[in-house]
Amino acid sequence: MNSIEVSNLEKQYGSFKAVRGISFGVKEGEIFGFLGPNGAGKSTTINMLTGQLKPTSGEAYVCGVNVLDKKRIREMIGIVPQELSLNDLLTAEQNLRLYGTLYNVPGKELNERSHHLLEAMGLAERKKTLVKDFSGGMKQRLNVILGLLHDPKVLFLDEPTTGMDTQARRMMWDFIKQVNKKGITVFLTTHYMEEADYLCDRVAIIDEGVIQAIDTPAKLKSQLKHENIITIQIEEDEQVINDVGSIAGIKNAFFSRGELKLYIEDRDGLLLDIAKALEGRPIKSITSVEPTLDDVFISLTGKRLRD
Ligand SMILES: Nc1ncnc2c1ncn2[C@@H]1O[C@H](COP(=O)(O)OP(=O)(O)OP(=O)(O)O)[C@@H](O)[C@H]1O
Ligand SMILES: [Mg+2]
Repeated sequence: MNSIEVSNLEKQYGSFKAVRGISFGVKEGEIFGFLGPNGAGKSTTINMLTGQLKPTSGEAYVCGVNVLDKKRIREMIGIVPQELSLNDLLTAEQNLRLYGTLYNVPGKELNERSHHLLEAMGLAERKKTLVKDFSGGMKQRLNVILGLLHDPKVLFLDEPTTGMDTQARRMMWDFIKQVNKKGITVFLTTHYMEEADYLCDRVAIIDEGVIQAIDTPAKLKSQLKHENIITIQIEEDEQVINDVGSIAGIKNAFFSRGELKLYIEDRDGLLLDIAKALEGRPIKSITSVEPTLDDVFISLTGKRLRD
């Protein structure tokens, strides 16, 4: 059974269409990711699926309930918004109690769940600390706990690790996996390809309000196998892009993370042409690389997801 079912969903703000007729299903028990750059329509979509924003047209159901039925939707789902929904002047524990009361979670369950969730998120020892004294990462973790307090069937997270350092991000990923193992379906948005790759069973790639592809990360990447992607360690210089960019058979060329990245067609003599174009410049290495989700995004949209 599908936990989330979406057909031809659209959102128009004035004359601007932010989400342009998207359709997809999320299976029960899946971690499903919406991967896209700034302004792609990720928050707009998640806000429609969680009953917070009325679609302009189309339909969406979560656990069989129409998202227009806000009251029933809210009972079934947990929401972790992009903007934190914490009260800075309360302690972590007080925030949980306030939220639990708003959601009518019975006292005993609230205590048990709060205790367990604070432990799992590494916040148990800080439960009596005012939220204003929390680090950004701690606030984000507490924000996730709030979304789980009423034991939802589906958890929605909007960019759960934006701005986090590597360690905090890992912790959040492991926690989301743990939550999912307990049987909670997870829908998340992200603009980090590593996050989508590591965390999600399936990924929808979204750009300018349109879903460009939906599949497992492995399948999305394997579609690019026939293409060649190489990186060259060479000093960053715009002239390099001009020199190699004009070679026939080079589909795209740019610097990424200090390396020159080339998308090339399989053609005899191409490597020789590249070597000629780069003549006189010291090259540390030439490596052919496995495609990433970033490469999938480039091949679908012609644009880069991020640097
Ligand atoms: N209330 C609004 N009124 C008008 N335009 C809006 C409104 N909310 C969002 N938009 C526009 O709709 C588009 C999609 O926005 P949305 O917030 O859904 O993107 P996003 O994928 O979540 O981006 P980000 O990664 O920056 O969070 C953007 O161009 C945005 O400027
Ligand atoms: Mg957003």
